[in-house]
Amino acid sequence: MPADFKRYTVTAALPYANGPVHIGHLAGVYLPADIYVRYLRAAGRDVKFICGSDEHGVPITIRAQKEGVTPQQVVDKYHAIIRDSFADFGVSFDIYSRTSSKTHSEVASGFFRKLYQEDKFIEQTSQQYYDEKADQFLADRYIVGTCPNCGNENAYGDQCEKCGSSLSPTELISPRSMLSGNQPVLRETKHWYLPLDQYEPWLREWIVEGHKADWKANVYGQCKSWIDQGLHPRAVTRDLDWGVPVPVAGAEGKVLYVWFDAPIGYISATKDLLPDTWETYWKDQDSKLVHFIGKDNIVFHCIIFPAMLKAHGDYILPDNVPANEFLNLEGDKISTSRNWAVWLHEYLQEFPGKADVLRYVLCANAPENKDNDFTWKDFQARNNNELLATLGNFVNRAVVLTHKYYEGRIPARGELTELDEHVIREMSEYPGRIGQLIDGYRFRDALNELMNLARLGNKYLADTEPWKLIKTDAPRVATILNIALQLTANLTTLMEPFLPATATRLLGMLNLEPRPWSQAGNSEVLASGHQVGEAFLLFEKIEDATVEAQVQKLLDTKKANELAAAVAAPAKDDISFEEFQRMDLRIGTIVAAEKVAKTKKLLKLSVDLGLDEPRTIVSGIAEHFLPEALVGQQVQVLLNLAPREIKGIQSQGMLLMAENADGTLSLMQPSSAVRPGSGVA
Ligand code: 2FM
Ligand code: ZN
Repeated sequence: MPADFKRYTVTAALPYANGPVHIGHLAGVYLPADIYVRYLRAAGRDVKFICGSDEHGVPITIRAQKEGVTPQQVVDKYHAIIRDSFADFGVSFDIYSRTSSKTHSEVASGFFRKLYQEDKFIEQTSQQYYDEKADQFLADRYIVGTCPNCGNENAYGDQCEKCGSSLSPTELISPRSMLSGNQPVLRETKHWYLPLDQYEPWLREWIVEGHKADWKANVYGQCKSWIDQGLHPRAVTRDLDWGVPVPVAGAEGKVLYVWFDAPIGYISATKDLLPDTWETYWKDQDSKLVHFIGKDNIVFHCIIFPAMLKAHGDYILPDNVPANEFLNLEGDKISTSRNWAVWLHEYLQEFPGKADVLRYVLCANAPENKDNDFTWKDFQARNNNELLATLGNFVNRAVVLTHKYYEGRIPARGELTELDEHVIREMSEYPGRIGQLIDGYRFRDALNELMNLARLGNKYLADTEPWKLIKTDAPRVATILNIALQLTANLTTLMEPFLPATATRLLGMLNLEPRPWSQAGNSEVLASGHQVGEAFLLFEKIEDATVEAQVQKLLDTKKANELAAAVAAPAKDDISFEEFQRMDLRIGTIVAAEKVAKTKKLLKLSVDLGLDEPRTIVSGIAEHFLPEALVGQQVQVLLNLAPREIKGIQSQGMLLMAENADGTLSLMQPSSAVRPGSGVA
């Protein structure tokens, strides 16, 4: 581990408090950050793990509008959900703060004011869309119109979600305001800009030349391409009524741009955590600042925020920004608006006590260098074949055999064979190997090494077969189990960053206190005679039915989305009122129903339409309704459709049905029962 830093300031992207957290967030940001921090703590480093809710900006106001509540209500609701689900998932923040706090508003305003006073901003006026009815300027996301590239009529002012092109509001054809539906007008407004172009030479030197070797290729590549394309002044204020007010005269009705205030949230959260000593974590060159983020945040953390920090002058810069790529779900992009996600708070409810299983699967399959896919089948397989069959099985065998042969007391070792020495030597190398991988932000590989240690233990038991040897060479069994148990004890330390709850349970089973990383390769952790607790299973099998239910939930979501996205058929040609009047539309009550023999689709219905006799109607709805369920139902009928013979039955009218986009049918019924034969007009 590099010893050249005295302390670590580790941040994880502040999630927008406009919705709950899903597995994509976890795999991309929070899980790797937590593994890193837990490892640093075990290694005895001084580290602070900082996060909180990002509570400003248009994402919040849009959600408030959708839910018909105030922005404050939105952030209060989601802040609590996010904070609690992180805690239940074992994300060990030192503080989970929020950007609506008083400290944050003070720190963010102070930051802006200093840059303003030192003339670090430029002021510019520009024409922006204004909604005269709602009496306010419109954020890009509040303007919809036709995409100039693909013709999508519902493109946003900043992006077309259909063709993916990024837009500016004035490029939209026929723009309309999402607030009033009216056409917005262009109005002049003044804003403050951070002249990123002035920082370009410095950014090029710092990133392109300075971080080529140590930043991840995906992060470095994105930064280089931004810089190569040329940087432009970027507005850091907005016309919005939700956010930190711009703290200078003449800025009434304006707030700090959310991407200006949010990263300052890392600083204000540290100040909330350590009112007296926070500055050492942000200003001391001995402090290593690491930002964990998803790839959509790279430009903000690698270019804009560092330029802000540089402009301010008092702060350290990030040493690394190990951004991950995206995690997909069952082959499709995770999407909050399409509800295509595994939500953390729902997972924790549906899989109680299994936070570590999800941590394992998400880390083993983390999108570290390319986008990856989460599938429930893989989730099941990794639990059953890896956690249970490898890690759980090894621990279980070692502890069960110790109880069986030695009443749960660690047996003393005898003479060591070459194999024993090999296992002891290997064991001593794992802490360094895993630690180095974590230091290099290679969490998947690190987890794989942890499993290799469990594999080593399993193989050791399989090769030595103590359950057979006990009959012929009992002293040898004592040595084998002693070594197997030392390995188990070391696993507790090495698994803790990845599987913290399991580590705690295993420590309990072994009757052991947590131990530092530096001791995790020690083959004499457990003294002979040490009493271990009862064996229990660390992991449970996940059954087919469990994952099938989750897949079904997603299929239901997909269907609901398709229905919501279905477009109505275009209108037919006009007919005259007289033509309409020729149709005799009535409500009738079904009095009998039966399947038409030798057909799949047809039902023969008898419908009371208030006439002398019920009418017989043959209808192709047998695949949608059970005959017995239809009896007694009121339905709408076209009475004067010319009779025709269907399968030898004279059909005297037609049942009218509502046909859903997915082909399912609904009866057209009056909202309360009416006399059979009532007309429809
Ligand atoms: O993308 C997001 O979810 C942002 N809320 C991340 C902000 S990170 C930081 F700058 F606060
Ligand atoms: Zn488009």
